[in-house]
Amino acid sequence: MQDKNTDNILDISKRRGIVYPSFEIYGGVSGFYDYGPIGTRIKKNVDDLIREYYVIGEGCVEVECPTVSPEQVWVASGHVKNFSDMTTECLKCGQPYRADHLIEEDLKISCDGMKIPELQKLIDDNNIACPKCRGKLDKLYDYNLMFATSVGAGKGAMTAYLRPETAQTTYLAFNRLWEITRRKIPFGVLQIGKSFRNEISPRQGMLRLREFSQAEVQFFAEPENKTMENFGDVAGISVRILSKDEKEISTTIGAAFEDKIIKIQMIAYFLGRSVQLFGDMGINTEKLRLRQHKDDERAFYSSETWDIEFMSGAFGRIEIVGISDRGDYDLSAHQKLSKQSMEVNIEGRKFIPHVVEVAYGIDRPIYCVLESCLREDERGAYFAFPTRVAPYKAAVFPLVKKDGLDERALEVFRLLRKSGVYAIFDRSGSIGKRYARADEVGIPYCLTVDYDTLTDGTVTVRSRDSKEQKRVKIEEIVRQLD
Ligand code: GLY
Repeated sequence: MQDKNTDNILDISKRRGIVYPSFEIYGGVSGFYDYGPIGTRIKKNVDDLIREYYVIGEGCVEVECPTVSPEQVWVASGHVKNFSDMTTECLKCGQPYRADHLIEEDLKISCDGMKIPELQKLIDDNNIACPKCRGKLDKLYDYNLMFATSVGAGKGAMTAYLRPETAQTTYLAFNRLWEITRRKIPFGVLQIGKSFRNEISPRQGMLRLREFSQAEVQFFAEPENKTMENFGDVAGISVRILSKDEKEISTTIGAAFEDKIIKIQMIAYFLGRSVQLFGDMGINTEKLRLRQHKDDERAFYSSETWDIEFMSGAFGRIEIVGISDRGDYDLSAHQKLSKQSMEVNIEGRKFIPHVVEVAYGIDRPIYCVLESCLREDERGAYFAFPTRVAPYKAAVFPLVKKDGLDERALEVFRLLRKSGVYAIFDRSGSIGKRYARADEVGIPYCLTVDYDTLTDGTVTVRSRDSKEQKRVKIEEIVRQLD
């Protein structure tokens, strides 16, 4: 499904250090990507924007937990038993396949919610064979997606897993967090970090990674009160919704809640906030759609789940956040296995809080930012990132490398750095080439130090999107860059 835009994104990404396949010198392994020098800056900015929304905006606290955890954690959570994909292998060449994807591609149908017997029947009835060598496929089995490892050496070594979601690791310290946050409900806990899923055969580049980043917020709420004080702030946001019965409608967050399409106000609120957040990241919000999970599709821990999907020109629908009512599933499960009480006591009322989870991927939204911000005009392809997501805010150039312009430009560059502005200094090639390089990675402003700078202390500030240039006094630059 690759189109010209995707080719441009992949080409610029690799060439200019946004993202590229990992371990390339050894042939690469699918499902692993590096963020290069430019991509790392973008990712950091996306992380910080999420922090701004949740830590500042919603008053959440933030935690960081280990990525390896002992087996009990994943036994209690249900992941050891349930976190699996239905898999088959070619009996001739040994290639493994995720059965639902294989059938969907072959028969052009949706396999959402189907279990092993239905999938097996579809494969048998339709004589679906290995797409690579046409060999016969083996019987389907459940393949657990967690990476297993062990902690420690010798007989005392304990089985452990790389976490497949950050959420569980946040729940484990619930009692401590309850004390630290001074026993107020609802309260939210953000965790940004890596998670791991040993996908069977990931093929969609950075959209399906085996090691990936998540930003997950767990809101602990009273079981009977999942309302939000600030719901009015998001009620007017326009959205497209695909409901469980596959009807697509245009409405607002407020109306969707009033009409009971979205039943839980907290879920509706965070769907609205997420649309705002994605817009601030630079994602084209006209390409977003809210979709409710069908009953047979929801994760084993959830009673109501909504996704926001981005309609990608290249990859079709891409899920970029999942918002779920996990009830007391997780805290109760950990209470049962650990025998540690997860109950709170509010004025004599004892209960296990419910969890509403807002689970963002980071890598997928970043791809959607790239696709949304890609522009093409006479200068070629470039990214019109919002300033706060752009890898650098400014690029500083001396017009020429002589007559003291070089030194003056370095002074301007150092001044920006001292003021906390991420900037790059570039003195190689023609000014046109330097503009092109800066535009290509989406730097919003280019500052050129020329002969006038030496006499009047101004530089040329050129805007990436309008290409307009204006003279700005050096001491005014930092203020004018937003
Ligand atoms: N914590 C939800 C997810 O990883 O999808």
